[in-house]
Amino acid sequence: MNSIPARMRVAEVRQPGGPEALQIAEWPVPAPGNDEVLIQVAAAGVNRADVLQRRGHYPSPPGAPANPGLEVAGHVVALGSNVSEFKMGDAVCALLQGGGYSEYCAVDVAQVLPIPGKLSLIEAASLPETYFTVWSNLVEFGALQRGESLLVHGGSSGIGISAIQLAKALGSTVFTTVGTDDKARFCEQIGAQRAINYKTQDFVAEISTLTQGAGVNVVLDMVGGSYVARNLQVLAVEGRLVMIATQGGTKGEIDVLRIMQRRLKVTGSTLRTRDAAFKRRMKQKLLEHVWPLLANGTLRPIVDEVFPLAQASAAHARMESSAHKGKIILQVA
Ligand SMILES: NC(=O)c1ccc[n+]([C@@H]2O[C@H](COP(=O)([O-])OP(=O)(O)OC[C@H]3O[C@@H](n4cnc5c(N)ncnc54)[C@H](OP(=O)(O)O)[C@@H]3O)[C@@H](O)[C@H]2O)c1
Repeated sequence: MNSIPARMRVAEVRQPGGPEALQIAEWPVPAPGNDEVLIQVAAAGVNRADVLQRRGHYPSPPGAPANPGLEVAGHVVALGSNVSEFKMGDAVCALLQGGGYSEYCAVDVAQVLPIPGKLSLIEAASLPETYFTVWSNLVEFGALQRGESLLVHGGSSGIGISAIQLAKALGSTVFTTVGTDDKARFCEQIGAQRAINYKTQDFVAEISTLTQGAGVNVVLDMVGGSYVARNLQVLAVEGRLVMIATQGGTKGEIDVLRIMQRRLKVTGSTLRTRDAAFKRRMKQKLLEHVWPLLANGTLRPIVDEVFPLAQASAAHARMESSAHKGKIILQVA
């Protein structure tokens, strides 16, 4: 194993702005804390939250590295004094609070997982952010049960591809919305029973037809705004609306009577700010329920395109074009 250098390359946000704001810089290599491992990063996942951070709207929380990057895969190259779960050289992937666009990351072992099965480090870098998010929101907060139905908006997104596959694997019927017919076909190939092009079809009417008027049990929403009222319209009796993003705005209309009459539940969450205890608990759930499905091929990472770290700006431009299907990855080493 190579010795650890004092300095490393990172992609940092020079000044908040467009994709060109991402520039390569040299920063000191972090030292792992007592409960942390140091990962030599091979690949880092790109997430929509990184785009918000680059624009200056979603800074890293206090104590986390200031550059973007919520997930990585690579090898353990140093261990904190309390760490016994991993050893030097282990191939791992990890959920971060920031700093993934770097050659090295120090991360709490509560957020570090082994690579499932024979997946590559590129594939593994696409997993932590989406599966921590999807498991906690669908299964914990949404209480999605076998035999129930789910509508997930944005089916071809990183979150969407994981939600479709996981919900189907757990025995649910999955409907989704997408912005093109091509994305609709893609989502149906990976497990959605029906993908609705929200630009040409009304998802409320479509879901009503597809469920014979009953509605779906859970909606996983990343749009907010005008979708809030419409999401409540498509929920079945005792349905649950789980909100994880506000791409269409933070304010929406709620029909209180509908919530009362149908006994609906409305909830939501953000992952990044959750404490280590929550992430440790979610990690155990993923190891128990999701990693085996990734290892045996039931769940498939879907990588749209890989960019070198030095082209992080091109990776962001691709995400903002919305042409991608699945995850965009930065190759770091
Ligand atoms: N709360 C949390 O803890 C948490 C954690 C992770 C991610 N997220 C959020 O989850 C979302 C997905 O993240 P990602 O990294 O997977 O991003 P991504 O791949 O860029 O996905 C964004 C998706 O939103 C879809 N979309 C936009 N407007 C839509 C509309 N009106 N109706 C239906 N779909 C619409 C886009 O579909 P088209 O291009 O087809 O329009 C695209 O598939 C982001 O908003 C992100 O911030 C939240």
